Amino acid sequence: MEVLEAIKNRRSIRKYKTTAVDERTIETVLEAACWAPSWANSQCWRFVVVRDADTRSKLAEALASVSERTNRAIEAIRQAPVAIVACAELGRSGYTTPEPRKPVTDKGDWYMFDTALAMQNLTLAAHSLGLGTVHVGAFDAKKVAAILGVPEGFCVVSMTPLGYPDEEPPLRPRRELAQTVFYDKF
Ligand SMILES: Cc1cc2nc3c(=O)[nH]c(=O)nc-3n(C[C@H](O)[C@H](O)[C@H](O)COP(=O)(O)O)c2cc1C
Repeated sequence: MEVLEAIKNRRSIRKYKTTAVDERTIETVLEAACWAPSWANSQCWRFVVVRDADTRSKLAEALASVSERTNRAIEAIRQAPVAIVACAELGRSGYTTPEPRKPVTDKGDWYMFDTALAMQNLTLAAHSLGLGTVHVGAFDAKKVAAILGVPEGFCVVSMTPLGYPDEEPPLRPRRELAQTVFYDKF
């Protein structure tokens, strides 16, 4: 699949078949994630592959507990055979390398940025292999960290279900370029 085609045709998938995803395919999408660029190649991301149904059910509960609006991905986390949880090591991305590490910019820790790049690689790679994903951000990250045993110095950034789509959602339109892009001055 062409990159542009993959970028334009990917959709957030929230309904999944229960069909298993084989190990090699899971590894392929994780490798794609790890080929993302990162601050000084610091690769602060870590991924937890969750196949256990009870654990996915607990993750789904962590989605239910943050927002007044029901998270539309709750059932997807239960349904899809795999959930991939993106975590990040803090104090690496955007920091100087020699100890004591100091932030290089006034934007602090860039872990969200680097991990998002990796997760977008993962979702595009998954789409190119016929798999569905949806970036999920609205959940109680501390609860998820406790469920998965994420150690001190790391935090949970996002997650996605991974599996074969059982829906073809309509395209969600994007703003016109003219509303989004400015030339020479904002
Ligand atoms: C940072 C981020 C967080 C998101 N969190 C959620 C979420 O918690 N639950 C959900 O159902 N979708 C979530 N989404 C998916 C967006 O709703 C979706 O990408 C957007 O509506 C555009 O639709 P598309 O991905 O099909 O193009 C999230 C997307 C991003 C980028």
